[in-house]
Amino acid sequence: MTTTLWKLILIHVTAAAGVSCCVQSPGDHPNIPAIAKYFCTKGRYEEVNPHLVEDILAVNTSILQPPSAQCRVIHLTAIVRHGTRYPTAKNVKKMQRFHELVRKEARGLQWWVREIRTRWKMWYTEDMDGRLARKGVEDLKHLAVRLSKLFPSVISEATLRAALVEFITSSKHRCVNSTLSFQAGLTELWDIKDVEFDHTVNDALMRFFDQCTKYVRDVGDNPSAMPELDKFQQGPEMNRVLQKIADRLGVPYALITADMAEAALYLCAYEFAIKTENSPWCRLFDEVDAQVMEYLIDLKQYWKRGYGYDINSKSSCILFHDVFSRLDKAAETNRLGQQVTEAVTVQVGHAETLLPLLTLLGFFKDTVPLTASNYASQAQRSFRTSLMLPYAANLVLALYDCGGGDVRLQPLLNEKPVTFPGLTDGQASMPLYEEVKKHYKDLLLGCDFETECQLFEKPAEV
Ligand SMILES: *[C@@H]1O[C@H](CO)[C@@H](O)[C@H](O)[C@H]1NC(C)=O
Ligand SMILES: *[C@@H]1O[C@H](CO)[C@@H](O)[C@H](O)[C@H]1NC(C)=O
Repeated sequence: MTTTLWKLILIHVTAAAGVSCCVQSPGDHPNIPAIAKYFCTKGRYEEVNPHLVEDILAVNTSILQPPSAQCRVIHLTAIVRHGTRYPTAKNVKKMQRFHELVRKEARGLQWWVREIRTRWKMWYTEDMDGRLARKGVEDLKHLAVRLSKLFPSVISEATLRAALVEFITSSKHRCVNSTLSFQAGLTELWDIKDVEFDHTVNDALMRFFDQCTKYVRDVGDNPSAMPELDKFQQGPEMNRVLQKIADRLGVPYALITADMAEAALYLCAYEFAIKTENSPWCRLFDEVDAQVMEYLIDLKQYWKRGYGYDINSKSSCILFHDVFSRLDKAAETNRLGQQVTEAVTVQVGHAETLLPLLTLLGFFKDTVPLTASNYASQAQRSFRTSLMLPYAANLVLALYDCGGGDVRLQPLLNEKPVTFPGLTDGQASMPLYEEVKKHYKDLLLGCDFETECQLFEKPAEV
């Protein structure tokens, strides 16, 4: 055969492959990977609120249904996770190693394997170290605008100018930057140029997990705290995923570890979250594989930050009390007929800040714990970090005065009304504040950070 003919065949094959990459079923968003809803804490906020893909500032005020037209918001607390960020140095290293492996070892003939090997550039560097991405700046700006449209009486130009909006943040640059971005969303909205807004850095509140000694010793730094995770990594579901990745890449099965599968998923997730690209890395997983990966990561979160160990949620006692003492103060000030001086508190932290608090409050609790052996029966679980904790995830607590001493508390998670688990009030979605306090009575009376987090019981008095 002549060289020309070979060239022709090659061109033909390449063209055909090029076409197959772009065939989409009608109605699909070609830029959204099919597996984007399984990215756990590396997922976009838009996957949790798909209507935002069409209009990022869309707000539906009728989701709030106060029992009477008289009700008005007197205080609002928002606990917000930072926006889309770059990978941490540790994960950049993992991604670089996996990329090298694919470049050197992959023999797969699929167009996307070739694309990774020849065209895709490793652009993540260790100095990105978890910083807020441009998309993350937008996440927080947009969230601020939407919340101001949802709660116009408390998040307004007037309250902002009167310094009735307080900002508290974790010291991490991505959180400080998220706080500044939230503020910028509002100042740009109202074209405020003459005022600088403050924020307070408070790691005791927003990074309580670092400061809870018992948590750090028993869970955070304890290499044997995650036996279920270790077992699942060795189990049949994960083995099948690793095998499929190896087959797709055309590399020996032994080369693909669970850690690498995680790096592969991150490569797909970060390309999408940061650049809205459906990258060739996403082809390493089908939906079944992505669900297994999601479970692996959920298992980790469950045991490390969620219901797995009691201390996980107890480490957030300090934030729990902070929130309720602020609500109490607002309710009391309002009862006395005075103006509430802190109309809004915006607290910016991490997935690790929100998850223990959500757990303490009882959200997303399944009847059976997540373990290595019940993947199949947990298919319908409520504990799915993909839905709970995307970038810019937020828990909003809105305190309403409905007149005549009728004060109510409306919780919203990721801008959707939710009910406090186990609280069965006639007006479940906007229960009386007193009912909420009764429901959490034990925590309000106890749940002392110092006591929960100390390593040893106080010696008995002689
Ligand atoms: C707004 O929310 C209400 C109440 O949940 C719902 O009935 C309505 O369809 C929503 N409207 C839009 C445009 O989504
Ligand atoms: C904060 O964001 C701005 C704009 O994206 C960026 O220039 C700056 O480096 C960021 N700072 C940190 C500490 O991440």
